[in-house]
Amino acid sequence: MASASLVRGQGGVSRVEVLLGESVGRIAPEIYGHFVENLGGVVYDGIWVGEGSSIPNTGGIRNDVVAALKRVRPSVIRWPGGCFADSYDWHDGTGPRAGRPKRTNFWVDSAEWPSTANKTGPQVFDPNQFGTVEFARFCRAVGAQPYLAANLRSLPAQDFWHWVEYCNSPAGSTTNALKRASDGEAAPLGVQYWGVGNESWGCGGNFSPEDYAIEFKRYSAWVPKYGLPFSMIGSGPNGGDNEWTRKFFQKAATQRGLGAMWGWGLHHYSWNTSAGKTTDWFAGKGDALRFTREEHYELLREASLMEGLIQSHWAAMGDVDRGHRVKLVVDEWGSWHKPGTEPFPEALIGQQNTVRDAVLAGLTLNLFHRHAEKVAMANIAQLVNCLQSLFLVHEDKFCVTPTYHVFGMYAEHQGADSVRTVVATPSISWGRAVGLEGLNASASVRGKRAVVTVVNPSFDGAREVGVRVHGGRVASAVGTVLTSSDPHHHNTWTNPRAVEPGALSVRVQGDTLRCTLPASAVAKLVLELG
Ligand code: AHR
Repeated sequence: MASASLVRGQGGVSRVEVLLGESVGRIAPEIYGHFVENLGGVVYDGIWVGEGSSIPNTGGIRNDVVAALKRVRPSVIRWPGGCFADSYDWHDGTGPRAGRPKRTNFWVDSAEWPSTANKTGPQVFDPNQFGTVEFARFCRAVGAQPYLAANLRSLPAQDFWHWVEYCNSPAGSTTNALKRASDGEAAPLGVQYWGVGNESWGCGGNFSPEDYAIEFKRYSAWVPKYGLPFSMIGSGPNGGDNEWTRKFFQKAATQRGLGAMWGWGLHHYSWNTSAGKTTDWFAGKGDALRFTREEHYELLREASLMEGLIQSHWAAMGDVDRGHRVKLVVDEWGSWHKPGTEPFPEALIGQQNTVRDAVLAGLTLNLFHRHAEKVAMANIAQLVNCLQSLFLVHEDKFCVTPTYHVFGMYAEHQGADSVRTVVATPSISWGRAVGLEGLNASASVRGKRAVVTVVNPSFDGAREVGVRVHGGRVASAVGTVLTSSDPHHHNTWTNPRAVEPGALSVRVQGDTLRCTLPASAVAKLVLELG
């Protein structure tokens, strides 16, 4: 984050300077995207219960998840993976549900399965009840656009073409359009966003960037558009691997293969390395619920690296794509904790979600706003029962997580104009966590209304904050805050409202708003401008 010295924090007061006249760019609503992979308890139990279920559902899709998700205005949802995508045959999820094939899920051999998990159910042997039209209906029910990730590792390019045809060709025009109609959707599904593989450097085929550039071109060339908006997303780097980006763009440009690309994927997860086993993918992570002050800061510091990743990949892309036609799509981000807090044993890579995770979400979304001209979409991983989820659900049990509330509080930023926001505050260094911003903020404007979101990452210290608005007069301000007396606090099925937003007292003094941000807090100030 740019922590320029416009105004130094004085007298213990941290300063946030909001420059209304300096637009960064429009905040793409798609930054508020989600991710649904057919992994553990995300789809089966998390979203899909089937029409015959006693759990209230509409066409097999849980009503509780739909109703709550709608409230936070999800813009786009990515499916079916993740690593799962590169093993998925979309044909399996079409046709009458009773006749669909049962397949072994990509995640069958994951080392993270709890020993108590039942490994005979739909999380392991996929009955394909939730296919393309079921996913499209879920998206429609919550008001989100679908984003499909195509299989590049194990299916030919022709299948990608045919999936596009199944989704988007006009009613009655093709055999695949008729197939879609017999699955209950005569009109085109109008899928705009298409991922061409996933993590092609890893589970998506272990390609080199040059080889992936050739594959990308083969898959993306001459795909029919049917006059509909159509945006293809390339499978980008693993975190800070700038060379992957650079080499891909160089190779793709020489092959005239960049033309079809709208977005370049970037994945960045945050985890603790306190176990000291950083080479062990799973055991090297920290616990979702039991963490020290140092681990608290370490996790948030890891998340804050997102800013450098956005900047360095943007620079590498710009070496070739000089006009920056291609934007960044951060289609997987969030916290990743070690096994042990899954909501139920079949929820592979499921984890609890505390106030610390909410702070991570608020901080990351602020970074996306601050780079609104670069980031065109982002998808937190994952929506239900997996990684940094918004919901923990199982059978008839349901609760939202603190992270859900951040998405609700921030929803108003969607589509507004991000304006430059400069923070002056001492940074935090604690053990392994060195140089974490002491305060993190972003602001957006729409007409006479501005929204400022401010995150206090401190483990236990409140902060006096002065927010000064340049270029406008503040007529009134209303504050909301998500916090708790302890960053370990979280919601459970028996105590589902332990963490939820409340009012934040804000004083307007001329062009400055004053408030006290509690420790580990995500705050929103809504300003009416005079
Ligand atoms: O989100 C879980 C996994 O993390 C995804 O399947 C993969 O893309 C990433 O490595």
